[in-house]
Amino acid sequence: MENYLLTDATNSEIMDEFDVDPLCNPEHPSMVTFEDITSAAYKIRTGIIQTQCLKSHLSGMTGMDLYLKKEFLQTTGSFKDRGARYALLMLSKEQQQNGVIAASLGNHAQAISYHGNLLNIPVTVVMPLIAPIMKIQKCREMKANVIIQGKDMVEAKRVAIKMAQEKGLTYVNGYDHPHIIAGQGTIALEILEQVDNIDAIVVPTGGGGLLAGVIVAVKALNPNIKIIGVESERCASFTKAQESGKPTQTNIEGTLADGLAVPKVGYNAWATAKNHVDKMVVVQEEWIAVAILRLIELEKSVVEGAGACGLAAILAGQLDEFRGKRVVLILSGGNIDTTILGRCLERGLAADGRLVKFKATVSDRPGGISELCKLIGSIGVSIKDVIHERAWVTSDVFSVEVKVVCETRDYAHSLELRELLFANYKRVKFESLRSMKINNPDITSTISY
Ligand SMILES: Cc1ncc(COP(=O)(O)O)c(C=O)c1O
Repeated sequence: MENYLLTDATNSEIMDEFDVDPLCNPEHPSMVTFEDITSAAYKIRTGIIQTQCLKSHLSGMTGMDLYLKKEFLQTTGSFKDRGARYALLMLSKEQQQNGVIAASLGNHAQAISYHGNLLNIPVTVVMPLIAPIMKIQKCREMKANVIIQGKDMVEAKRVAIKMAQEKGLTYVNGYDHPHIIAGQGTIALEILEQVDNIDAIVVPTGGGGLLAGVIVAVKALNPNIKIIGVESERCASFTKAQESGKPTQTNIEGTLADGLAVPKVGYNAWATAKNHVDKMVVVQEEWIAVAILRLIELEKSVVEGAGACGLAAILAGQLDEFRGKRVVLILSGGNIDTTILGRCLERGLAADGRLVKFKATVSDRPGGISELCKLIGSIGVSIKDVIHERAWVTSDVFSVEVKVVCETRDYAHSLELRELLFANYKRVKFESLRSMKINNPDITSTISY
């Protein structure tokens, strides 16, 4: 495969014709209108799923009248089906024959691969090296020409734009093409039909296309509804744009919300959304892990990090002003690698104070370790892992250091375990035992695990 990355320069230094997406001109951004969204809704109505928007079991726990728009139930597992299908349907016959190219971290790539295949339009997708394996694999299954190149979205995008120019393909920006933004806005039309008297809608934000589309639709129909954008602390590009007054290159670090890892928001999305966002929230990664865990345990919904950001913001207490109000969370996608899911659940349990790790020095005489295990079992704590260490123990030679990972019912149960061990052993050390409980003393969770 030819390497299309022409320079080793840093992202901020690269600026040539391949950075210029023909439909995303910073000097003359396209503003998406309400009519664009209604036209998109009509055109895609037979090709996408009208996903449920139901009252959440998490309402009591969060103190909000919470509704969940389950976009992870779309065919390719995210809301991206909407914009991708609309953009493909709007191409001229000639463009459809020549084919399209997109750069994507995964969900846009999957959506465009799937709908391209259905509509008989050849699709090439450029995915950066950080794209999740599962998403890459899915695009291949949907017969797309998949190219893995570039360390992040900026680089993957340059590759795609260069190939588009050389091979006569139409480049479809996954968050800033006006048809993509219009397609994503159709979610909001559905939400407003499905739920009455909404106070706020919470929108996971990456390149800003979803946020822009939702804003246009909602503010046209009911400007009183607050629109909240949510980003991970590791890729807060919309917040950075707000600080500097324009789309600005932002440092991206590895995040559970990989779908949001876009270093610079789109110019059209920015121009369309910037004056109408009521609040932006930046969430910590640990809260995203807890949110993924809660959605699995309490909603039986597998949601990827990007899609769980809205709930993360609520659990972290960053949207407390909406307590007692009706709030819709867009669960925007469910494409999470199984291995990442496993790690998220473990992190979520640890952040919750339900997975605990400690070291205890116990007697090395026969029965010493078994006594420790019995003590742990006596209060119903379950041991996940035990390792014992003799060689590097600094106390007497008749001692052994035991490292234990345990699962408890909840944080209080973990504290009970800690007290019991402190009472029975001289040397016990717990690793960062804490609880990321809802940051709200008025609400006592009605959930028991
Ligand atoms: C699951 C998920 N949620 C939210 C977003 C954010 O969408 P946008 O880039 O339009 O802001 C993405 C983007 O890929 C996504 O994949």
